Amino acid sequence: MNKRFLFVCNFKMNSLDVMEYVNAIKDDHIDNLVLCPNFCDIKDYAILKRNGIMLGAQNVSEFSGGAYTGEVSASMLKESGADFCIIGHSERKKYMFETLSQTNQKAKRLLEAGITPIICVGEDTEKGDDFAVRYVLLELNEVLKDIAISKVIVAYEPIWAIGTGKVPSNSHIQNVISAIKKYTGVEVCLYGGSFGENNYKEISSLACVDGALIGGASLKPNLIVKIQKDLR
Ligand code: PGA
Repeated sequence: MNKRFLFVCNFKMNSLDVMEYVNAIKDDHIDNLVLCPNFCDIKDYAILKRNGIMLGAQNVSEFSGGAYTGEVSASMLKESGADFCIIGHSERKKYMFETLSQTNQKAKRLLEAGITPIICVGEDTEKGDDFAVRYVLLELNEVLKDIAISKVIVAYEPIWAIGTGKVPSNSHIQNVISAIKKYTGVEVCLYGGSFGENNYKEISSLACVDGALIGGASLKPNLIVKIQKDLR
């Protein structure tokens, strides 16, 4: 493998002691790993920046600042050390009823703060390539409105593959990600959904896939570092 495969680790609402990653990484320098802990832990993880690790958040407010109880702004994330932020994750759409137009606003706030949005899209049911392509392009049509395409990352995450151990075929991943790139102009596209020990070799070898958005496996720092080393 010669391209740099980006790993974006989404810890979700889990608290993982930074020392677990510190111990797994040791003195290594890893410049293609983005760790996205919960808001409270981001500042603790800043110590890993000296190893080349980059930091991200899992959500941001669609507003820039002011009387919005419970919200965290893009500029606050930037000050905490985040250079990336996951937005529009299917769990936020399902449980927090986040809409595509809110995700679009969030992307705008992030870009204003100099943070790279990682925009999640993905179909909810397993109905083949054409259905998936139509589904994600409709989502992106709304989410990418008036956005500088070259400044965002898209994560293709079929919802039925998240946390289930089910992974689409290589050709499905390739077809959907190639269509996203062709029809939107987005240059960096990740795959997400049960990425881990059993499939990292195959998925990282797909030419159109630039990286992975990793949930469950990201809570195992030794595994992430092992996969990282293996793909070098
Ligand atoms: P998973 O989660 O790797 O546990 O399937 C991916 C995600 O939700 O981003």
